[in-house]
Amino acid sequence: MRAVDFLDQLNGEFFNGALAPLVLERLRELPVERDDVRGFVERAFRLMHQAGLPATDVSPLHGELLGSLIARLLPGTWGGRIPPITVAGRHRLFDVLVARLCGEHGRMLDIACGFPPVTSVDSATALPGWDILGADRALPEFLLEDGLGNYASFDAGEQVQYFQPTLPTRENWAALLGDYDGSQRRLEALFRHLHGGGTAPAGASLVRHPVTQYERDNLHFVRADLDALSTAPATVIRCFNMLMYFDAEFRARAMQHFADLLQDGGLLLYGVDWAHSMECRYMTMRKRDGRLGSGEFAFSLDNLMPVGIAPWYTLQPDEPEAFRLAALSRVLRDDTAFIREYTERADAMRREYGVCVRQSDGYLSDVSPDLPPADLWRLSADFSTRLDAALAPRAVAVLTAAGYAARINEVGHVAVRV
Ligand SMILES: C[S@@+](CC[C@H](N)C(=O)[O-])C[C@H]1O[C@@H](n2cnc3c(N)ncnc32)[C@H](O)[C@@H]1O
Repeated sequence: MRAVDFLDQLNGEFFNGALAPLVLERLRELPVERDDVRGFVERAFRLMHQAGLPATDVSPLHGELLGSLIARLLPGTWGGRIPPITVAGRHRLFDVLVARLCGEHGRMLDIACGFPPVTSVDSATALPGWDILGADRALPEFLLEDGLGNYASFDAGEQVQYFQPTLPTRENWAALLGDYDGSQRRLEALFRHLHGGGTAPAGASLVRHPVTQYERDNLHFVRADLDALSTAPATVIRCFNMLMYFDAEFRARAMQHFADLLQDGGLLLYGVDWAHSMECRYMTMRKRDGRLGSGEFAFSLDNLMPVGIAPWYTLQPDEPEAFRLAALSRVLRDDTAFIREYTERADAMRREYGVCVRQSDGYLSDVSPDLPPADLWRLSADFSTRLDAALAPRAVAVLTAAGYAARINEVGHVAVRV
């Protein structure tokens, strides 16, 4: 199938053919020969449709992120392994939530912490009275820096697991993955050279057990699969950006593991977010009498008209949180007074920040190519916080009128009892 035919089909089915030409042009890069990529994009479009997102709110940036970023991040690119990607500051608001719900002391298990484990480091700093254990099945045995601005992780069998530019800009990714096999061969050759005692080229290095560099008094790590993880009972389990990769059967098993690993009264916090905690959807649940009870689903309001693509980031056709988010977004979007006020505020902030500004034809524009990705996400996160502050009370009123037990939670997100 050609990309153009695939996109025509999606545009027709989910947007009545109304997507902007520039959005479609950005999507043309899609490697449609890959089932996982087609599946991902199709699911994303279906979720947009379920959430009631109009074609005018799909920006060229969405086209670009779906068209090029996704193919690099999907496990299909990495031999089925889930990339260990995380980003500093990502769970900032969840550290605040943990302190507000559970106090200044406790034991947090950060399951699927990723590598470099910068979000666990953030938590150890933000929650100095807490002991934090980061656990991930893919903590590298070796970390290779190639001296050219890229790093690669290798497992105990000395096989490459994952590589990326240290500064992950569009250009740096393209340079590294433009020739994926060539980059992998080059990194493997450098690994063998350094592991065999060869002299390191300028800036290159090979470190064994690199995660120990991140440990400190209140922060430790363990390389373990959730299935095999066994630790002292935790006050809080955080598991972000992992479950959306797995099917319902795995999730059911994971829930049992979480229950086993939590102390009674302990808090389970899991979900999806993007940079700086923006575009988040998550569940909070307590363990009571030995089992996980019902909980609360919470989300940030930027999901209704996101700058990024996190609301649709899922590898499963039945991810409960993605569906819940789409259903609640639909309720809010169907309230004409609410969505008018939301759009006016969001559009005003987009103009203020110069991020995907609404044009005279009603469609969202691109971002300036001069805006570095880190600045884009910092501005978008600021915008997200301001949207929640301004509109969460109205959103709660709309959801309450629609029959949900809704409230504003301890970090300003809209939460509904499930
Ligand atoms: C996208 S990263 C998320 C990192 C971090 N939690 C965050 O939110 O930024 C997903 C991580 O899940 C880990 N992972 C996937 N399945 C796992 C399992 N069954 N047990 C432990 N870790 C797992 C992967 O190795 C990867 O590092």
